[in-house]
Amino acid sequence: MHLLKSPTAMRGDHPHHQKILKLAKPIAYLLLLLISFTLGYHSSSSPTISSSPPSFPPSAPILHQLASLPTNLDHFLLTTHCSPPLPPHLIRQTLLDHLFNSTSPFTNFPPPHAAPLLRRSRIKGWGSKGAVFQNLIQKLKPQTIIEVGTFLGASAIHMAELTHQLGLNTTQILCLDDFRGWPGFRGRFSDISLLNGDVLLLYQFMQNVVSVNATESVLPVPFSTGAGLDWLCQMGVFGDLIEVDAGHDFISAWSDINRAYRILRPGGIIFGHDYFTAADNRGVRRAVTLFARVYGLKIKFDGQHWVIDSS
Ligand SMILES: C[S@@+](CC[C@H](N)C(=O)[O-])C[C@H]1O[C@@H](n2cnc3c(N)ncnc32)[C@H](O)[C@@H]1O
Repeated sequence: MHLLKSPTAMRGDHPHHQKILKLAKPIAYLLLLLISFTLGYHSSSSPTISSSPPSFPPSAPILHQLASLPTNLDHFLLTTHCSPPLPPHLIRQTLLDHLFNSTSPFTNFPPPHAAPLLRRSRIKGWGSKGAVFQNLIQKLKPQTIIEVGTFLGASAIHMAELTHQLGLNTTQILCLDDFRGWPGFRGRFSDISLLNGDVLLLYQFMQNVVSVNATESVLPVPFSTGAGLDWLCQMGVFGDLIEVDAGHDFISAWSDINRAYRILRPGGIIFGHDYFTAADNRGVRRAVTLFARVYGLKIKFDGQHWVIDSS
């Protein structure tokens, strides 16, 4: 008995076989389609993390799934190792050496061409004097504070005042901001001068710092948050307290929080604005929530601010 079928039968030359073969392909596609649809439906309809508040818009399950699959996050992980921490008392001089030719940017400030364009003091912020600042500074007694997003310096100046009141006279507040604001911000701040297309936000911030006599404790770090935070990591500049308040869309907040967390001194606190404001759902709340889930951290709240204590 031949176990092998005849070549004719194998090729399916018989009219009945031909019919079956013709149908087989579409049926197989249909089956595959049904199987993948069923699997996809079940996996997306049963999120592995409970949907407790805060609530998310319909696209959010993707974030939930990401948070529950750490392997997927490998794609997003940033450099995890910064240089060994610089001793806090060397941080200011290191920044002056590398960013400002070893001279304080406040020396001979303001330059004559800008002086007439600056207001003696023009301080405006958002939630910049919330109780959270006093609570955290009193608790931590930080030697190095890093602010990610400074604008006119309202929160930085408030922190400088708080540290002085507590007798923390050597505390440094590093203000990371590109000092560009955001497109259209001059609609509300038309009094901040524009010089050949260059808005004088850095100078007005510096003038504000001069006006409260805080030039020895506040230092601008005038770069984009991404480049600036990476550079601080590379230099081994760590913060005891880091405030994140720059871009409020999800991608910016997510990137800033991840980068900032790398340079948080063990036991330090990272916090930020807009967890509970009209701007929160632009992305800050989702970025903070995802970040805390991924790293297994607890988010606390203080007024409009979120707080993550690494201790
Ligand atoms: C809401 S304001 C900061 C307010 C300040 N913390 C206060 O309370 O007074 C946001 C600031 O982040 C800065 N910013 C936004 N995205 C940035 C980026 N990618 N790099 C650098 N600065 C950025 C803007 O220039 C702006 O000054």
